[in-house]
Amino acid sequence: MRRRWLATITMAAVLGLTACGGGGGPAAPSGQASGAGGDAKKQVEVFSWWTGPGEADGLKAMKEIFEKQNSGFSFFDAAVAGGSGDKAKALLQSKLQADTPPDTFQGHAGAELQGYIKAGDLEDLTFLYDELKLKDVFPAQLVEQISYQGKIYSVPVNIHRSNILWFNPSVLKEAGVAGAPKTIEEFVAALEKVKAKGKIPLSIGSEWTVTHLMESVLLGSLGTDGYNALFKPGANWASPEVTKALENFKTILSYAGDPQDDWQPAAAQVAEGKAAFNIMGDWAYGYFHNPPDGGLGKKSKTDFDWAPAPGTGGTYLWLSDSFTLPKGAKNRDGAIAWLKVAASKEGQDAFNPKKGSIPARKDADASLYTDYLGDALKDWSADKLAGSIQHGVAVNQPWLAAVNEAVGLFIGSKDVAALQKGLVDAAAANAQ
Ligand code: GAL
Repeated sequence: MRRRWLATITMAAVLGLTACGGGGGPAAPSGQASGAGGDAKKQVEVFSWWTGPGEADGLKAMKEIFEKQNSGFSFFDAAVAGGSGDKAKALLQSKLQADTPPDTFQGHAGAELQGYIKAGDLEDLTFLYDELKLKDVFPAQLVEQISYQGKIYSVPVNIHRSNILWFNPSVLKEAGVAGAPKTIEEFVAALEKVKAKGKIPLSIGSEWTVTHLMESVLLGSLGTDGYNALFKPGANWASPEVTKALENFKTILSYAGDPQDDWQPAAAQVAEGKAAFNIMGDWAYGYFHNPPDGGLGKKSKTDFDWAPAPGTGGTYLWLSDSFTLPKGAKNRDGAIAWLKVAASKEGQDAFNPKKGSIPARKDADASLYTDYLGDALKDWSADKLAGSIQHGVAVNQPWLAAVNEAVGLFIGSKDVAALQKGLVDAAAANAQ
């Protein structure tokens, strides 16, 4: 296998974020009985950011298995709204600092998780890996991303792909665009054609979705080796190649429609035929495809279609959601019971087809992964790998916060030199 996992796990990140206040997650304490009487169940507080359409479906599927298998526990959904966890992670940080952790929380494999580990927030889960023989079922390189000094600190539930170009086939046809653009140049030409027809060329959501777009443009412009080199010692964020990539980013962003509240309304503009393109992770597939209630119930290849983001064909810009056991969890047994479901084949095969991701386990039932997810499984085993910036693989949280700040300023200023300086400074202050 041609796995090329990033060696970006170099940073001790004592996280510097403060609580956002208005995170919106339910604030009930964990570990408490949910009702009076002897048969009261002990709650397990599961902290994530999967509240929105599409996202919540997978969590619900895993919750049902958890409650069926654990009659003594009830699932307490402590999810905090906001795609990519921008609000959830800030609130989580304040809970960790106050020593009131949830019983288990979602963390991205890679640099983000290493931050929690090195800050001493997490229990070592090697005992669970030994008991369930989990080292045999997860890819060794993924286990490496969640390990530190030989100990393993989380249970990965999935693999997501960040670099997907979602598009509306009818809007493309109407604009005379023959198919999904394969290169940045073709992409810009296609955006121009859509603009001429009066549709939104590229839909965009809240600020983090702009960083999300930027990582695909960096990969598409620099190539896999050039992109991966940005996170290795001696990386040169000041290079003329990065300048060119950021100029591409500026050009592409100039075709964006009005910013939507989050990734879902931006993605919906494509599925509803208002916009031609959206670059978003494959959680958008769950949202497009799942039946109404959780999803949009749209028809694949008719209402929406997909391709690798321009210039990134053959590379899987990956990320992985994992669950942890925080030190001081009030309901430690309940959290372990949750982790066992998250680690199981049954749990992963219930969760992932709805979430729009492929399983982290190597032995999942491939027949459940069809349509977009069939492509994803195939590409995952054949493609080169690069780690997501926005979703915790390549950079730790302080580094990401600095990147987001630079991108946030760029949205207003459109000043490529200032953006590049912001990225150079972010790397200099946070890379190790
Ligand atoms: C990512 C997360 C995905 C999905 C996405 C949008 O950070 O890993 O599971 O939730 O954010 O919210």
